[in-house]
Amino acid sequence: MQQEPAHEFPQFNDDVREAWNTNADFWNERMGEGNSFHNSLVRPSQESLLDLRPGEQLLDIACGNGHFARQMAEHGVQVTGIDIAPRQIENAIAASSSYGDQMRFLVADATDKQLLSQLGAHFFDAISCGMAIMDMAEVEPLAESVAALLKPGGRFVFTVMHPAFNSPNHLSRSVERVEMEDGRIVDTYAVKISHYIKPTAYEGVAIIGQPVLQRYFHRPISVLLNVFFNQGFVADGIEEPVFGGTDPRHALDWDNFHEIPPVLAVRLRLMDSGQ
Ligand SMILES: C[S@@+](CC[C@H](N)C(=O)[O-])C[C@H]1O[C@@H](n2cnc3c(N)ncnc32)[C@H](O)[C@@H]1O
Repeated sequence: MQQEPAHEFPQFNDDVREAWNTNADFWNERMGEGNSFHNSLVRPSQESLLDLRPGEQLLDIACGNGHFARQMAEHGVQVTGIDIAPRQIENAIAASSSYGDQMRFLVADATDKQLLSQLGAHFFDAISCGMAIMDMAEVEPLAESVAALLKPGGRFVFTVMHPAFNSPNHLSRSVERVEMEDGRIVDTYAVKISHYIKPTAYEGVAIIGQPVLQRYFHRPISVLLNVFFNQGFVADGIEEPVFGGTDPRHALDWDNFHEIPPVLAVRLRLMDSGQ
């Protein structure tokens, strides 16, 4: 029997769907049309890397409650949103009725190549996948589908929890307060990691208080990008957004870590094979 590559975890596909389905209403309530993490870090990077033009076709993979898809519809693009969790899609449809034919939402596992092929070969100008690849049990079928769905020269923009700084399997965040001789008080915000290079599946939460734990899949940056490079993609844009303000009430929130990016955003394009 052929062994799965070390970064693929297909045995957890059902867990992923069930956990996200159970957490969907909580997620919808907390995320709404974008929480501060999304509005400050995720959306600006995804939006500028996507660089959408009116009339383009956008596929938003793992769209959740559809808030980013709705924001992108404001650019005058046609949007298709897909998600593995049926309840996320129900919530996305309920919140998007005013967009009529400009938006459609479908329940689909982005790692189901056969199902995704029904969306149309080389149909999309751009594909986004916000904060979700670390939630996906498999990444190779995703890369193959994205390559098959994008028009030549089309762009694929994804964000993930930064694999080096915010992949919380044994991640520890700390603030050290030093009182200096000259009376200054210096706070240093730091991240300590002890696991990085080995892909691992673990459990965690996306938003504190969610009903059930979800699966996460840590993959180092080299593994993550090589899966796409092997499909003929090249990277031509990258951002590592950080918060700019401070939240003194919550010292260990990412808002206070101005030197450590919690999100990695990448734009990939398919190289023209010349055929
Ligand atoms: C952290 S949420 C992000 C949702 C949305 N993109 C956003 O930025 O708000 C991750 C989403 O990935 C979806 N997901 C996980 N694995 C998936 C898969 N294989 N195919 C499609 N969606 C998937 C989950 O159901 C969940 O809605």
